[in-house]
Amino acid sequence: MTTTDLPRTTTTATGTAAKIAELARRREVARQGAIASVEKQHAKGKLTARERIEAFLDPGSFVEVDELARHGAGNYGADVRESYGDGVVTGYGLVGGRPVCVYAQDFTIFGGSVGERVGQKIVKVMQRAIDVGCPIIGINDSGGARIQEGVASLASYAEVGYHIGLASGVVPQVSLILGPCAGGAVYGPAATDVVVMVEKTSHQFVTGPDVVRAVTGEQVTFEELGGPAVNAAAGNVHYVAADEKDAFDWVQTLLSYLPSNNLDEPPDFGAADWAYDTELEMNAEDLGLNAVIPDEPNRLYDMTTVIRHLVDDGEFLEMQAAFAPNLLVGLARIEGRTVGLLANQPLHLSGALDIDASEKGARFIQFCDAFNIPILTLVDVPGYLPGLDQERGGIIRRGVKLSFAYATATVPMVTVIVRKAYGGGYASMGCKHYRVDTNLAWPTAEIAVMGGEAAVSVLFRRQLQEAVAAGDYESVHSTLVDAYRAEKCTPYEAAERGYIDAVIAPSETRIEVAKALRMLRTKRKTMPARKHTNIPL
Ligand code: HXC
Repeated sequence: MTTTDLPRTTTTATGTAAKIAELARRREVARQGAIASVEKQHAKGKLTARERIEAFLDPGSFVEVDELARHGAGNYGADVRESYGDGVVTGYGLVGGRPVCVYAQDFTIFGGSVGERVGQKIVKVMQRAIDVGCPIIGINDSGGARIQEGVASLASYAEVGYHIGLASGVVPQVSLILGPCAGGAVYGPAATDVVVMVEKTSHQFVTGPDVVRAVTGEQVTFEELGGPAVNAAAGNVHYVAADEKDAFDWVQTLLSYLPSNNLDEPPDFGAADWAYDTELEMNAEDLGLNAVIPDEPNRLYDMTTVIRHLVDDGEFLEMQAAFAPNLLVGLARIEGRTVGLLANQPLHLSGALDIDASEKGARFIQFCDAFNIPILTLVDVPGYLPGLDQERGGIIRRGVKLSFAYATATVPMVTVIVRKAYGGGYASMGCKHYRVDTNLAWPTAEIAVMGGEAAVSVLFRRQLQEAVAAGDYESVHSTLVDAYRAEKCTPYEAAERGYIDAVIAPSETRIEVAKALRMLRTKRKTMPARKHTNIPL
């Protein structure tokens, strides 16, 4: 029996037993798929759609929907035209005991291409996810718009795109790219909250190598054009997995940090007997923080060290690691509850903010704000990155997104300035004036309009010129810089004005942040009524 042997709707079975047997036969055929294509899929190191769903969901929890769906496009083209499922497996199940809706494009049927029925099936489970308030997980592995179905397949993409917009900020949406994803098809995943790719087997591009060669003359491979490394560096991808299992593990972990929907709280892994007055004791990890900031102001250190000392079990689910590495973003827990972390990374561009970092940070803030995740910001920023490239690239319009996102977020927010907070960097990295709730600073904090070198060159130009003439530039310059740094590059001027709520020893940080987050658990803030903000996109 092949799928093509099946009558479309009629059945010759008569009597109940025969009808039940006919159902079993059809279901068996539906689950089998096209055997040759399954082997081809496995040979590429890829699982089939159903295998992927089984691997991803809690064992035995999958409930398939529209298993017996078929396309309505007639027999145009090649021979495997009657396949059940029609290029996508859809349904719902559990991850970590919580419901999710899922769809997995089935490359064994028409190369997973998207026709009218595929679109209807995907939209049906998306609508279910919106109705019940659970995440939508989309597994992409597709040749794109189904050529035989013409405009109906384009309509399907547009329908899915519409529902992604509808679900955005309502339920978490995660896309796994586990094969090809090309043309307009890439815009679906790109509009979801989190995108995961897999080494070697997944590709994403708007136009493939052939079109690129025809239009621009550039010779590029699939990998160079749309491999995971390229997409990760461009910020299109939140995590690049080593293989499909790694991808599923990562998304399962991600979901453990997220609420099911925007009206829910993230899961609480805190102690069952937690109370507001549960004692917080300083530990060795806390004390270790006192030794992280180097004595020399321009010496580098790794901000992930600070993060790992602060969060539960040192676990930090970093996102978009290969994009704008000067700003770290990711999820962690404090006292068992999810926090979203933004932190300047001095190891890259000295932690300066550029266009990419601003957009990365802004989108992450919006993600956290949409899903009730408190935001913890760790600041060591020398300011915005100067340069022609940045100005020409639109850093004015694009850099402002970061502070704009803070201004419009209503979740609990805590900021800790650990070293530099200069100029626009101070303003944009979660300062008090953008209504961050709790602002802390370490004694090593340098909150100033600019650093010592730059400041004295502006303020003391004449004295420095005279020093050059007198032959003692070095000593005058360093005296002026030292004096400026001692006077201006401290947390105390900000603390005197109440812009900083407390100056604390690094070792006190975890406890103070935990206390602030406890206090802010019941924060309720509403913004003025409006349709939506007008963030400069
Ligand atoms: C119908 C398709 C198909 C498509 C693949 N198949 N893509 N059928 N419509 N778009 C079928 C093939 O005919 C083949 O059928 C089976 O799927 C497997 O494909 P292969 O080519 O054998 O697989 P592979 O060698 O792995 O190559 C995969 C591929 C290639 C790179 C994806 O199939 C390909 O280039 N496809 C076309 C991609 C494309 O240009 N899509 C349109 C993009 S534009 P048989 O019967 O032989 O098994 C787009 C617009 C979206 O998507 C608009 C949104 C608004």
